[in-house]
Amino acid sequence: MINKKILENLVKGKPYLDHKNAVLSAPARHMFMIASIWFLSKQNKERNLSIMEIGTWFGASALSWAQGLAEHSNSKGSLTCLDAWEPFFDLKEHKNNDYVLEMEELLESDFAYNIFLHNINTVPKSIITQHLRGKSENILHYLKDESFSVIFIDADHTYEFVKKDIINSLRLVENYGIICGDDLNIQMKNVDKDFAMQNKNKDFIKDPKTNKNYHPGVTVAIEEIFGEVSSWGGFWAMQKINNLWKKISLKDMPVIYPKHFNQENLDKAKDHYNDIKNSLD
Ligand SMILES: C[S@@+](CC[C@H](N)C(=O)[O-])C[C@H]1O[C@@H](n2cnc3c(N)ncnc32)[C@H](O)[C@@H]1O
Repeated sequence: MINKKILENLVKGKPYLDHKNAVLSAPARHMFMIASIWFLSKQNKERNLSIMEIGTWFGASALSWAQGLAEHSNSKGSLTCLDAWEPFFDLKEHKNNDYVLEMEELLESDFAYNIFLHNINTVPKSIITQHLRGKSENILHYLKDESFSVIFIDADHTYEFVKKDIINSLRLVENYGIICGDDLNIQMKNVDKDFAMQNKNKDFIKDPKTNKNYHPGVTVAIEEIFGEVSSWGGFWAMQKINNLWKKISLKDMPVIYPKHFNQENLDKAKDHYNDIKNSLD
């Protein structure tokens, strides 16, 4: 009922991200997404960038990509949002996890999809937006080789799915384009490797070596495909250069906060960024 009221009271042209489940990842990561667009524009100012994200939810990350295009690419380019907007968690594993059950309900009821439709409509019209609704495993192989400058992977974080999403995306990235993603909390060299391998099909667990929570599926898939990648606070990226995947540097990036964030998420982004800024490459 409360969610129905929220949908009825959305304000045209104003993003809605006040819901407690609206911004799922660490807010500072959105600053590195915006900075990735700065990185690409710095290499080639004339380039018309095309971005696809796999896993969109309410559209918080989509709005950050759009802000990247607005800030660094003259508000030009295109943004494709791919998401099934349907329940996807393994409920045998998550049956007592209220957070997951809430997400499933927001997907099942189409609340997440309707909020996304509202939010994506706030993107400047000079940026072309489209969305593809369906499972990534059914859609990605219909897309043309080298058709995206950036592919951002943030859908199902369990090993089999995240690995498939990355592998199926590699050919879709153009030369000098970037593949990137969310939720690489810790890279393989820093975790208990045997434990990570044994638990790679779990969603989110505690690493016994660091005592930190992480997504083992993301850590293992990335290690198997690329080895070590560039990463900043859990956002990771690699650039395609003549069919080889290279790390990138965001050193000296402009510090730009997502303007669609509410005060709570802005404060989190600022604190997190200040904590890690001296260790950034
Ligand atoms: C973590 S959320 C995305 C968050 C979003 N990128 C953001 O930062 O605002 C994951 C999304 O992936 C979608 N998803 C999960 N598995 C999927 C699949 N196999 N194909 C397409 N979408 C999927 C879910 O519907 C959900 O909306």
